[in-house]
Amino acid sequence: METNIVSGTGLWAPEESISNAELVESHVVSAEHFNRENAAAIEAEEVEERDPSSVRFIVKASGIHNRHVIDKAGVLDPSRMRPRLPLRANDERSIQCDISLVAVREALARAGREAGEVDALLVACSNHQRPYPAIAVEIQDALGAGGWAYDLNVACSSATFGIQAACDAIANGHARCAVVVSPEITSGHNNFELRDSHFIFGDACTAVVIEGRETCRGKTGFEVLGTRLATRFSNNIRNNFGFLNRCETEPRTPHDKLFRQRGRQVFREVCPMVAKHIEEHLAALGLSAGDLERMWLHQANLGMNQLIARTLLGRDPEPGEAPVILDEYANTSSAGSVIAFHQFHQDLEIGDVGVLCSFGAGYSVGSVVLRKVAI
Ligand code: COA
Repeated sequence: METNIVSGTGLWAPEESISNAELVESHVVSAEHFNRENAAAIEAEEVEERDPSSVRFIVKASGIHNRHVIDKAGVLDPSRMRPRLPLRANDERSIQCDISLVAVREALARAGREAGEVDALLVACSNHQRPYPAIAVEIQDALGAGGWAYDLNVACSSATFGIQAACDAIANGHARCAVVVSPEITSGHNNFELRDSHFIFGDACTAVVIEGRETCRGKTGFEVLGTRLATRFSNNIRNNFGFLNRCETEPRTPHDKLFRQRGRQVFREVCPMVAKHIEEHLAALGLSAGDLERMWLHQANLGMNQLIARTLLGRDPEPGEAPVILDEYANTSSAGSVIAFHQFHQDLEIGDVGVLCSFGAGYSVGSVVLRKVAI
């Protein structure tokens, strides 16, 4: 069986970013406007009054200080509250293709591979810009890659599910050099009007190159010791946007077609599920949490990550043991754990082991156990 190596990663993040203070200022104006417009209905208790958001709450509840977004002006405009994106014609590249190319080219350069050598390309993310033709096939064409490509969606866990699919394809001889790319434009499906979740997301795109050890050109890489996936149905994170919306006899409210969650329940239910998942995955590989130098966890909430790390280690994690990027990028859905890996793996020694783990809607959990190796 072929040994799979993560040989390169890449990251695209928008230049524009929004601080908590800027986001809250826009939310307060929008909530005041809503309350004025709906004063009579609020008075009659037909419509719920909107309370203002607060920077203090955001930092305390999530650990998020900032987020990068594809269009800051549109998101902060209190009369719009979503990115303003020019319509692209059918003969122009999609936005997800454009941002993916940046991340994929960086990942390939780090792996020392040419785009033409890629023979499997998976676009693994929470939302695809259109149902078909697949964004992955568009990227394959723009790159000049060979083989095959397809889109997959397992929400925040998409990247790890894609990594397992890529590893399986290489191990079975169906591909030699696979790329998993996660172009997450979360600002497109976030509800910036609602204070419960207006602060949680940010935009980013990551790419991961996976190949067999024999073809690696770098001096070092990360051997995939194992991958493990799990799902369990829950409605606590949900988005009802879909192709049947136009056929439904009762029109949905616009908010129903955006991300929403019962955050507290998610926190309570997902943390133990993830800690158990990682523990069992490590045990199946003859390892334990004590063998881990690093945990590159999904970046949704600082408290969640601290709790998961503490449950696994039986103590508080040392600084750097479970790197945090959500303070700067917020929750970038499936890109988050890969950004953490991308930014925090260079200092590891040959032989060091870490786990990359994503979790989110579904519920879904995916873990990839990695060991730094000399090629
Ligand atoms: N500013 C001020 N107050 C706010 C607020 C805001 N932006 N948002 C909510 N509140 C209020 C609530 O209305 C509530 O008030 P109440 O007690 O009077 O009803 C109170 O603060 C607590 O709200 P709650 O939603 O229970 O907060 P929380 O501590 O659970 O934190 C999240 C909210 C979203 C940060 C947190 O639950 C979380 O991150 N959960 C996990 C999410 C996750 O990982 N999702 C995966 C998505 S991929």
